[in-house]
Amino acid sequence: MEIVDDKLNMDFTSIASTTTRNLEIPAEFCLFEGSPDPCTIVIVGASGDLTARKVVPALFNLYLNDGLPNPFLIFGCARTKMGDKDFRDRMKKALIEIKNPDNQKWETFSESLHYRIIDYNDLPSFKNLADSLRELDKKSGTRGNRIFYLAIPPDLYKPTAQMIGKTGLSAEGETGNGWSRIVVEKPFGQDLDTAIDLDRSLHEYFREHQIFRIDHYLAKETVQNILMFRFANAIFEPVWDRRYIDHVSITAAETLGVEHRSGYYEQAGVLRDMFQNHMMQLLALTAMEPPSLFEANRVRDEKTKVYRSLRPFPVENLHEYIVLGQYGEGVIDGERVPAYRDEPGIKTDSLTPTFAMMKVFLDNWRWQGVPFYITSGKRLAKKITEISIQFKEVPHSMFRQSLGEHITANRLILGVYPDEKISLTFQTKNPGAKLCLRSVAMDFRYHQNYSGPVLDAYEKVLLDCMTGDHMLFWRQDAVELCWSFLTPILQECEMCRDRSKMLLTYEAGSGGPQSKKILRQNSSLEK
Ligand code: BG6
Repeated sequence: MEIVDDKLNMDFTSIASTTTRNLEIPAEFCLFEGSPDPCTIVIVGASGDLTARKVVPALFNLYLNDGLPNPFLIFGCARTKMGDKDFRDRMKKALIEIKNPDNQKWETFSESLHYRIIDYNDLPSFKNLADSLRELDKKSGTRGNRIFYLAIPPDLYKPTAQMIGKTGLSAEGETGNGWSRIVVEKPFGQDLDTAIDLDRSLHEYFREHQIFRIDHYLAKETVQNILMFRFANAIFEPVWDRRYIDHVSITAAETLGVEHRSGYYEQAGVLRDMFQNHMMQLLALTAMEPPSLFEANRVRDEKTKVYRSLRPFPVENLHEYIVLGQYGEGVIDGERVPAYRDEPGIKTDSLTPTFAMMKVFLDNWRWQGVPFYITSGKRLAKKITEISIQFKEVPHSMFRQSLGEHITANRLILGVYPDEKISLTFQTKNPGAKLCLRSVAMDFRYHQNYSGPVLDAYEKVLLDCMTGDHMLFWRQDAVELCWSFLTPILQECEMCRDRSKMLLTYEAGSGGPQSKKILRQNSSLEK
């Protein structure tokens, strides 16, 4: 008996100490994996917003956390006339708007910032750029390793990639080059044909392993965590299918309007801006099968299989599967905001959707018959990004004399924003003699028991690019499959005669268009 007790004690002790050990992993330990090679990040379009608001602040933060290689250079180029000093001042000003930087650290960091003027259509100007890069390489020891980050409007992707290629900067291991990578921001094409065309032209000078198609959603901690949650725990997978799940809602609602991006957004609309990329990635992570190994291509293979199972949209019956909306004027956070059509640069009769809700099915064994409600929109009541897994009700209620047939079913929420959390609702008994149930939630906050530094999405993608890891980047086959799915919908929505009737106006600050007939319920916006 004593021996058994001892054994039990030992088991408990070892479980307890394992738990404690896990929680005591020093925060810095998980932040970086190895150190990237020395390199230069060439930001093409360095005078723009993306560089000032996202790319350079992300690099500065990596620097503060010792995450950058040594040596390291940032080489901005664009049409705007300025010198190194103006560029550094501009980046510092933008950074101050985000947070107050440590001045001394900024001064040291900013020494690695350089700037050259280029004309995107002019080969000699790219040749000068190549000469400057080679010269700086020699001086600083960055070994010819380069990342070309295209922070430019999408119509410049093709000519710029060609120019980089023609000057010999894409060839790896030649003329003083080390490795060479190109980072392309979304949108990757406007539809299937343009995506294929863009890819073809990138491949004229770059090989697939050199191309990084960014989707910043993939680098959000809580989005990455979806796979850990599903596949590092044994208890969820057995119920993760059509037998137990009633429907899934994937929501990315925003309070922001079109901001200063009218030119781009008028062409894109919510389907190209959010669905073709971020929403499709959230769908794949929720629905994919476990890969045999957590490795970029195996993970991306499984995602591709999800896209291959997408049931083609019944375009003749579109109304039953999609709701499109455009925001009218309204109030957000106590402030009156204009209608989409009254925003600067937007046509007064614009038919661009700023909201879409789609009912999507996956034709495969696991998900047959389970609707996925995918919703995204601008100028909604609150900013919220989450995946909600709605389980089925119990098959039979043994409490029906007192509680009736329906008992609120379990729901699992994977919160991405604002609450980075996992929350499971379940039924429990209220204290007392009378049988009463109440829904309660078991919450895990992502940063619970963690106070160390964190990497934001752009920091993570930049880091992965430096280490050459494709895990968080789109592969072309997936891009094409998603465009194959969305292009017929876009064509139908953009060409059909009753296009204006399909587009419902919703009040800014509301939960979206009133008529969402396709939905039985939408967890995030209706709450
Ligand atoms: C971008 C879209 O990719 O994602 C924007 O172009 C959108 O329109 C943004 O506002 C949302 O990102 P996040 O990280 O704020 O949810």
